Amino acid sequence: MKYFVSIGGASGSIYGIRLLQELNKAGHEVHLVISEAAKKIINHETRYTYNAIKKKAAVVYDNDDLYADPASGSFPLDGMIVIPCSMKTLSAIANGYGDSLTSRAASCCLKEGRKLVLVVRETPLDVPGIRNMLAAKESGAIILPAMPAFYHQPKNIEELVDFIVGKVFDQLGIQHSLFKRWK
Ligand SMILES: Cc1cc2nc3c(=O)[nH]c(=O)nc-3n(C[C@H](O)[C@H](O)[C@H](O)COP(=O)(O)O)c2cc1C
Repeated sequence: MKYFVSIGGASGSIYGIRLLQELNKAGHEVHLVISEAAKKIINHETRYTYNAIKKKAAVVYDNDDLYADPASGSFPLDGMIVIPCSMKTLSAIANGYGDSLTSRAASCCLKEGRKLVLVVRETPLDVPGIRNMLAAKESGAIILPAMPAFYHQPKNIEELVDFIVGKVFDQLGIQHSLFKRWK
C-alpha cells in the first residue's frame, strides 16, 4: 500500500518516526514530508536526524513543494497521516487552506474520499482547535489525538508511543502487534 506521512511541528515527533519505521517494516511504500517546524522539534525531542529518518521513506518532499505528486488528487494514495499534527496545520486542513504540501495533500485526500488520519496534539484545547477538529471530522478526516491509554499497562515511553502508532494502524486496517488489546 502507498501512504503519505507528514510529520508536523507539534510536540511528539517520535510518533511520526515510529509510524514511518513500522510502515516501512511492514513493506508499505511511504512518501514523506517533514515540516520546517518539525525538523527543529525532531532535533530537540529525539535522537534521530533528518537524514536518518528520510532513509525509511521511498520518496521525500519539501513541505513548500506544491508541485509534488501528492499535491494532486490524481496521485493514487491509500491514505495520509499527519503525525503529530499541529493546531496550525489542523486549521489549514479544516478550512481547505492548501498553502503547504501537507494541507494541500490532505485536502486532496478529503475530496477524493481517501483515509486521512490527523494525530493532533495540544493541551489544553482552545475553541478554534475544538471547532477545527469538528470541521475536519465532518469533512471525513479521522481525528486521532496523541492521547495514549494505560489499560495495556505500558512499561516505558516506547510502549505509550506504540499504542498511538497501533491505533493509527487500526484506522488504516493494517494488522499489528504494537500493543496488547483489551480482552
Ligand atoms: C518545541 C515546540 C513544541 C510545539 N508543540 C506544539 C504542539 O504540541 N501542538 C501545536 O499545535 N503546536 C506546537 N508547536 C507550535 C508549532 O510548531 C507551530 O504552530 C508551527 O507553525 C506548526 O507548523 P507545522 O504544522 O507546519 O509544522 C510547538 C512548537 C515548538 C517550538
